[in-house]
Amino acid sequence: MLETDKKNGESNLNTLPFVKTKQCVAALLENYIEQSKTGKNPVLSQERPEVIAKALKLKSVFEKGFQNLDHLESFVATYLTHTNHLRNPKYMGHQVAVPQDLSGIPDWIHGTVNNPSSLYEMGPAGATLEGFMINWMLSKLGWFTGENLYDFGKHPNNGSGVLTHGGSIANLTALTAARAAIAPEAWTQGNPDDLVVIGPATAHYSVARALSIMGMGKNAFVPVPVDSNEVILTDQLDRIYQQIKSQNKRVMAVVANACATSTGLFDPLNEMASFCKKHKLWFHVDGAHGAVALLSEKEKIKVAGIEKADSIIWDAHKMLQVPALCTAVLFKKQEHQWNNFSQNGSYVFHENEVIGMDSMPYTVECTKSALGTKLFWSFALKGEKAVVKFVETSFQKANDLYTYLKSLNDFYCPYPPESNILCFQFKPADLNDQDQLALRYELINSGAFYITSCEVQGKRFLRTVIMNPDTDQKDFIELAKCLTDIGNQIHAHKK
Ligand SMILES: Cc1ncc(COP(=O)(O)O)c(C=O)c1O
Repeated sequence: MLETDKKNGESNLNTLPFVKTKQCVAALLENYIEQSKTGKNPVLSQERPEVIAKALKLKSVFEKGFQNLDHLESFVATYLTHTNHLRNPKYMGHQVAVPQDLSGIPDWIHGTVNNPSSLYEMGPAGATLEGFMINWMLSKLGWFTGENLYDFGKHPNNGSGVLTHGGSIANLTALTAARAAIAPEAWTQGNPDDLVVIGPATAHYSVARALSIMGMGKNAFVPVPVDSNEVILTDQLDRIYQQIKSQNKRVMAVVANACATSTGLFDPLNEMASFCKKHKLWFHVDGAHGAVALLSEKEKIKVAGIEKADSIIWDAHKMLQVPALCTAVLFKKQEHQWNNFSQNGSYVFHENEVIGMDSMPYTVECTKSALGTKLFWSFALKGEKAVVKFVETSFQKANDLYTYLKSLNDFYCPYPPESNILCFQFKPADLNDQDQLALRYELINSGAFYITSCEVQGKRFLRTVIMNPDTDQKDFIELAKCLTDIGNQIHAHKK
């Protein structure tokens, strides 16, 4: 055991050897990964917070610090027992990346060097990786006109983009840019009161939330009706638009789901883009989950027209296997980024003197993590082709689950999946919305699987998101069996 200096009961862990301490944590994590992958541990651990706080002895560690390496080790081991196992193939929960085994390394490097990448001079390596990844994303959209991905210059016809901490902030960033385009005076004078945003009634809540944060009020979001699977009805766009015009209001942006959070279905981007072009409206694609489809020859049809957007958001911590958080906000016309947040901070924004590129003027955050490093790492670990393959396989697996559930009489799947998200119900004729919810809770409380639930057109559905590359057909068979057992018990209780 490595004793530390315990004078005054205080810890002096800084004297612990760097490598040995890291090795100790690495060994725990390796074991954690192995255990998770066996699928034998419960996927979910949901103790009450008081229990976790006591098990970790938070008060004493907070006051006195770790006493020695053994102490740190047992703390981390206990911490890990109270986490959810995303690497368990029975994890089909939220749209949160199942990281690759070595995905945590950039967070470790960043946590050690602490070079925020929003100012190039503060984090040149991180900012460069961000610039490179933004160039790569722009190139996938046909919005990059540089010589090669090392070309970080501001070419006139280039698009532009920044990485930010999550899709919600990214939607806010894109919508403030849309406002700057239609009402630049809003930044200093406040909002004109005639601006609205239209989009599917099922747009992610962060869109309406962004409008509230921007002082426009969430009622500034005007929902466009959706079909029975909650895909936008494009033939309703014109009616809504004329209605808005008759009220002397202006459309600041049209938002599309690519794909919708609950169903995983894509809005028809091409049709929406044509509508926006006809009326000269800003087109924003919320591609938090589904923008990755554009990487695949097989799947890119689902986002056909995405390149006609004015702005796009794309979460890397969903389908690019990057640990939370990391999202790109991309603009087709770079000036939309330059004009966003037009506010000066004399100590940071001095355009002509900087080497490299600063993202700080164009983000909600002032300081930000080395997001480009995390994003780049996902590709560095296995190469671009493997990342694309992961996307394709995940989409295919949702389809396999759909086919399997459809082959069983007791499951109702309203639509074939278009991504790796699938919604379904168990015996909807016998089990009501509450029962579907109860079914999910019993399943996840058993620790056997982690799935979520959502409402589609006001009805409760069970929802799976196939994020784990190890999830396969035998997990689907077992899932259906568990749901059938629990569901039939719930049904029997009702009689
Ligand atoms: C379509 C869509 N947009 C935005 C978000 C918000 O992203 P984040 O959780 O990264 O803030 C989500 C999250 O699930 C989403 O599905």
